Amino acid sequence: MLIVAAVGPGRCQVKCTGFQRNIEGRSFALRRPAVLLTRRIPSAVLQKLESACEVELYDGPSPPAPEDLIRHLPGKRALICLLTDSVTAEVLDAAPDLEIVATIAVGYDNIDIAHAKRLGIVVTNTPDVLTEAVAELTWGLILSIARRLGEGERLVRRGEWKGWALDFMLGTELRRRQLGIVGRGRIGTAVAARAPAFGMGAVFAARPGRRPAQDERSFDELLVTSDVITLHVPQDPSTHHLFNRRTFARMKRTAFLVNTSRGPVVDEEALAWALQERLIAGAALDVYEREPQIHPALLTMERVVLAPHLGSATTETRTAMADLAVRNVLAVLEGGLPVTPV
Ligand code: DGY
Repeated sequence: MLIVAAVGPGRCQVKCTGFQRNIEGRSFALRRPAVLLTRRIPSAVLQKLESACEVELYDGPSPPAPEDLIRHLPGKRALICLLTDSVTAEVLDAAPDLEIVATIAVGYDNIDIAHAKRLGIVVTNTPDVLTEAVAELTWGLILSIARRLGEGERLVRRGEWKGWALDFMLGTELRRRQLGIVGRGRIGTAVAARAPAFGMGAVFAARPGRRPAQDERSFDELLVTSDVITLHVPQDPSTHHLFNRRTFARMKRTAFLVNTSRGPVVDEEALAWALQERLIAGAALDVYEREPQIHPALLTMERVVLAPHLGSATTETRTAMADLAVRNVLAVLEGGLPVTPV
């Protein structure tokens, strides 16, 4: 069936259910839809995409800049991108054939969603499939910072370990401590579910300024009472620098901050200041304000664990994320509904 749909100002797309047109009883194979893929994906998933589409794989040495996307997108009906690709309004305007942007990530702060909506372009992300992997990494970071694993490993590799001693490199036990979770979505909830295994009590906070639900703390109460605070909110104007000099000053001097959400939720300059002033005990980070750059002061501090944005980085999860993005693309190009629309 041929569907002609007006999808936005100045846009008119021809969509086909299946990739064949049937005109006057004769079936014509359509030119397969062209897709731009900004990075290599697992081969089994790529094969699935290639079985239905003409795939152009962007092969620059680093993630494509908006200018690169603008150059490669004309003629493409789908874009499969990563969180490192800036899909700006200019990029979308330069892609008159685009029907779907499928990001291989749960966060979509790199895409101008409002503009895509205006143009009638579907945007999809990859929720659920990465929840457990990110929750596991979050616990890895909590344990690493509380038990000084990064610091200890660096010392061993420098050849400075003198042997076991009763008072050597003592950390903090988690049991009976409070885990404060900012963000009550899938990942925050999965992190909370693992807290009893470590003897921790988990509490959630309402966003600042919002009235807490019956089983939630106010944001300020979470700040002043938690021993570990872990962040699981999306990046948007309301969460930009949610952790800043003022919030760090409210935290316990013995508390740790863990961030596996998005870098700009934490003001890195303020975090470095809070650690230097010993306003908090330490921080474990997987995400940064200007990845892959990290505030230079954090790089020199022992009481900081720094991971290179590994939240969803397991073979199983990355494969599942790529597969979900491809399923979204195929569904939309076949004229159906996206599986996980934003
Ligand atoms: C996401 O999907 O947004 C994660 O940050 C990837 O690790």
